[in-house]
Amino acid sequence: MKSIWSKTVDIAKRSTLPGDLKTEVAVIGAGLAGILTAYLLQRRNVKTIVLEANEIGSGQTKNTTAKITSQHYIIYSKLVKDFGFEKAQQYATANQQAIDDYRRIIREENISCRFEECPAYLYANDRQNTKVLEEEARAAQKLGINAEFTLETGLPFPVEGAVRFNNQAQFHPLAFLEAVSEKLDVYEHTRVNNVEENKIFTDYGTVVAKQIVFASHFPFINMPGFYFARMHQERSYVIALENGAKLEGMYIGIDKDRLSFRNFDELLLFGGGGHRTGENSVGGKYDFLSSRAKELYPESREVGRWSAQDCMTLDGVPYIGQFSSSNPNWYVATGFGKWGMTSSMVAANLIADAIVGKENPCREVFSPSRFTPSASLKTFVTDMGQSVKGLSKQIFKIPEKTLASLPTGHGGIVEHDGQKVGVYRDEDGSIYAVSVRCPHLGCQLEWNPDEKSWDCPCHGSRFDYRGKLLNNPAQTDLEVR
Ligand code: FES
Repeated sequence: MKSIWSKTVDIAKRSTLPGDLKTEVAVIGAGLAGILTAYLLQRRNVKTIVLEANEIGSGQTKNTTAKITSQHYIIYSKLVKDFGFEKAQQYATANQQAIDDYRRIIREENISCRFEECPAYLYANDRQNTKVLEEEARAAQKLGINAEFTLETGLPFPVEGAVRFNNQAQFHPLAFLEAVSEKLDVYEHTRVNNVEENKIFTDYGTVVAKQIVFASHFPFINMPGFYFARMHQERSYVIALENGAKLEGMYIGIDKDRLSFRNFDELLLFGGGGHRTGENSVGGKYDFLSSRAKELYPESREVGRWSAQDCMTLDGVPYIGQFSSSNPNWYVATGFGKWGMTSSMVAANLIADAIVGKENPCREVFSPSRFTPSASLKTFVTDMGQSVKGLSKQIFKIPEKTLASLPTGHGGIVEHDGQKVGVYRDEDGSIYAVSVRCPHLGCQLEWNPDEKSWDCPCHGSRFDYRGKLLNNPAQTDLEVR
């Protein structure tokens, strides 16, 4: 299911890594965060290469709703309470700066990416949430954001309250990415298998880099850093509607269904149905969106659908900065929640500044070292790693009678010889059987009927019904029968 962005921009393909090489900086991941980091470093004359397991923008950048906003749900009132005013100010300043940076880069580079200035709204239908919105508006104002509480929106229903942030923006993320990546050295289809000190190992050669940036959505190195222990992933769904409505801004609800609205050209992008990855065994998320769209916009017609996956941190603030205290030359950018556009720019600014030795006054609030997991986690990871190794040798052979009741187009878990096996019967009746032990750290995968994928509830790795890796932190495909 291709997003509207993938359908309308096709970024030129790049070669794989041509062999061993040396560079000043190597960025792992050619999504928005990785490409912007490389772009800013190149502008400062720092020799940088980018290594990408698939293709430029083929991860979450192609699936976003592409709202460039410092409005990140209810964040500022929480930050002031949990982090204090000074760090809340850092967060607000960095994200407002990110919007200005998009505006400036697009103007300087003359990038045609449908960049449009517009307000962003948080809204609530539930009266109990009105106070929360009022508090958020007050906190944002105190932090210098052009924000106000209002009851006026362009939504097709009355609201109990809304917070409007002015001077925000939306764009076409792949059109922007195509332009900023044009002059960068990016190597595609070059999956990084391992990183040790300043060496990066791939199937096509080894890269030696003075500094390494992990911008691969979810860091795939378990230790040091322990990012798997301090993040989970969530999925959300979008449908594109013709004959929806022309709105004068971007919207997201804070009530239970968290519906999202924005326009792209004549289309209305209508999102929601979010859940923790690995917890959608019942399915029906697209059906939910389709039926809500029919209620709200009876004349609308669905012309596309897709989904996104986001890394969620423990405290709602991304981890951007030094990867761990034991690796001073490694940097990480992850945990952007559902706000990847501004967070990518914030990450690029912070990491590029750190690499060239420039102090960034917003650094502290994003520092990954604000949370240090206990050393006891090491035992847990080692144990799980061993159990996965044993499993990878197994080959499943499932008798057809075990699968007799599985209808076409359906998947599920069957028990065979004391083992749990994930099976899917496609529309032609062909059966696909895979191990349901996640190759990351061994959790049991769950079937996701909306995506026909095997999803991990622990840290969010995903695999298609054939067992092919879709989302990290896992690095390998599933064992198949
Ligand atoms: Fe970590 Fe599956 S993603 S165990």
